[in-house]
Amino acid sequence: MSPLTTEPGELAVDCVRTLAPYVPGKPIEELQRELGLSDIIKLASNENPFGPSPRAIAAMQKAVADTWLYPDGSGHELKQKLAAKLGVNTNQITLGNGSNDLLVLLAEAFLKPGLEAIYSQYAFAVYPIAVQATGATGVVVPANPPESAMPLGHDLAAMARAITPNTRIVFVANPNNPTGTWVPAADLRKFIAAVPPHVLVALDEAYFEYAGGLDIQDGIPWLAEFHNLIVFRTFSKAYGLAGVRVGYAVSHPSVADMLNRVRQAFNVSVIGLAGASAALDDPGHVAAAVKVAVAERARVADVLRNSGTQVLPSAGNFLMLHAGPNARARYEALLRQGVIVRPVGNYQLPEHLRVTLGTVEQNDRFLAAWEAC
Ligand SMILES: Cc1ncc(COP(=O)(O)O)c(C=O)c1O
Repeated sequence: MSPLTTEPGELAVDCVRTLAPYVPGKPIEELQRELGLSDIIKLASNENPFGPSPRAIAAMQKAVADTWLYPDGSGHELKQKLAAKLGVNTNQITLGNGSNDLLVLLAEAFLKPGLEAIYSQYAFAVYPIAVQATGATGVVVPANPPESAMPLGHDLAAMARAITPNTRIVFVANPNNPTGTWVPAADLRKFIAAVPPHVLVALDEAYFEYAGGLDIQDGIPWLAEFHNLIVFRTFSKAYGLAGVRVGYAVSHPSVADMLNRVRQAFNVSVIGLAGASAALDDPGHVAAAVKVAVAERARVADVLRNSGTQVLPSAGNFLMLHAGPNARARYEALLRQGVIVRPVGNYQLPEHLRVTLGTVEQNDRFLAAWEAC
């Protein structure tokens, strides 16, 4: 095919042209435009309805005046605070424009055509995108069957069996999005201990704060023992800062060194650094938001189950529902009632919908709308 007869986008490398793009949740403004509704709630992107700490808001407002300057590319203050909180050294931390940025940087630094990365079926959609964009091979391991104790969750034993001499990364989302499922701590430990040293374990703990007493391991204390482990965390969920894009990876210093080589020098903004840093000074704000989400997770799941809707076990700030063959129609019926949830057809789960836990009032509104559609 001559480049002159095709659109210029077609000149992109094969591994990018064949990528399926990430499908985000529907923005409130879009639904306003489409249906002319004014009273809309968005329970579609696992955001925290309580927003950031007032301290973080004040720090970000103050930082606006400094936005003519490039940010501190080393993220010194934020890294110092994180290191103290997590009990690690600053040279183990890499900051990112959200943890999504860091997942992409990991793939860029450690993958190339001919190498492989493993992830579970129904695992977070960014893993295949990050892997395939490097030209490496994404190896999808079938998830647990629907009738298992952790339906549609990661099958760690099968993931371990999928490792070959060409594998460089295995992604484990704990808990996973969109399923909400998690891996018990003992199983995870056994798995990581069995992963050979030529493979990095990318442990994505974006929803770690919402564990709520469930058997979910904090991966950071394991870093001293497992040098091939990398833990990914974010300020987007429990810290309520999704819009400013700050995440971090904690790893062996040699891995952080490599991530830093491919990282844009100023990948976290002046406002993001200020907001995240101040948010760490207000753990009470985070704990209050998490408490509501954990309580609502149980309450909303009970209400749904009692009225006959199957709900997957969840350790996140969201629930995955089996909406049935007319899931798309129910999604659209919810939209008409001003409630945005997330279809997951892009995960090959056309009969499921994912709903983020909002405030008690928002959840009640979702439940009423769900009953009506
Ligand atoms: C499992 C998981 N990992 C990572 C992310 C990326 O979050 P962010 O880039 O906002 O830190 C998300 C966001 O939804 C997620 O669900």
